[in-house]
Amino acid sequence: MVKAAVLGASGGIGQPLSLLLKTCPLVDDLALYDVVNTPGVAADLSHISSVAKISGFLPKDDGLKHALTGADIVVIPAGIPRKPGMTRDDLFKVNASIVRDLVKGIAEFCPKAFVCIISNPVNSTVPIAAEVLKAAGVFDPRRLFGVTTLDVVRAETFAQEFTGQKDPSKAQIPVVGGHSGETIVPLFSKATPAFQIPSDKYEALIKRVQFGGDEVVKAKDGAGSATLSMAFAGFRFAESVIKALKGQTGIVEPTFIYLPGVPGGDAIAKATGTDFFSVPVSLGSGGADKANNILEGVTEQEKKLIQTCTEGLKGNIEKGIEFIKNPPPK
Ligand code: 2OP
Repeated sequence: MVKAAVLGASGGIGQPLSLLLKTCPLVDDLALYDVVNTPGVAADLSHISSVAKISGFLPKDDGLKHALTGADIVVIPAGIPRKPGMTRDDLFKVNASIVRDLVKGIAEFCPKAFVCIISNPVNSTVPIAAEVLKAAGVFDPRRLFGVTTLDVVRAETFAQEFTGQKDPSKAQIPVVGGHSGETIVPLFSKATPAFQIPSDKYEALIKRVQFGGDEVVKAKDGAGSATLSMAFAGFRFAESVIKALKGQTGIVEPTFIYLPGVPGGDAIAKATGTDFFSVPVSLGSGGADKANNILEGVTEQEKKLIQTCTEGLKGNIEKGIEFIKNPPPK
């Protein structure tokens, strides 16, 4: 019996993500929570002839408590999206407190749940969530994940002309670091099966993966950022977590984690100088079983990308931690 909860279920990512979870045969119970429209979204999805029993909650009548109680996995796409010209960090002001308050609910109502954070800026919202869970005395680093799967999905898609795979997802391309611009580092040298990128095409491909989100923001012209591809990626990650919790072995997904709390993470934290970092993680029934150190043996070009990544990432992480430790005046 698996209960999944989506916090921010009425939004641009939340609705298609909820649709995918509703159609997933591994989910028995699906709870939707948002500040508006969840009864409508839940009613709509409830007509789909799939296993999951669905319910929608609003903040009134203890909605968050009902959505979260008994949840095994919570996926959080809540918050506002980017407009043209904005970076993910520009969303901090609004989304930081949204994530903080939702994670306080998780700490209270389902402290053992796997928490998958999509809300941007992921580089800061995951440290925020960690601090909230720590303060409540329920932080298990093996159960907190920043969803960076869209970067992996983009790398698979944009590199298809070089991988030669008919189905782009058949190329496994690890993407490490964070989830914003230059903190996103695709490690093409570690792809399986291996493939070559002509040297005059390498830089453009790296930039396209790093700034793929901006392509969508620009094309949507003020109507937001990636929602459908993000929902696909969020679902792909959540489904992997659910499969692992149900006992499937051999599942590895890159995800942004608190390294010192995950086996294998200390060496990576030491090598990068950051405590939060996305690396391929082996998932098990208790969450992150092992952080795989994929950084050894990368190319010189990739080493430089990792260095630029960590410089930016440190500030993003610190900003999230500070937001909880020294909250700004209201
Ligand atoms: C993106 O990468 C929305 O952060 C998301 O497009």
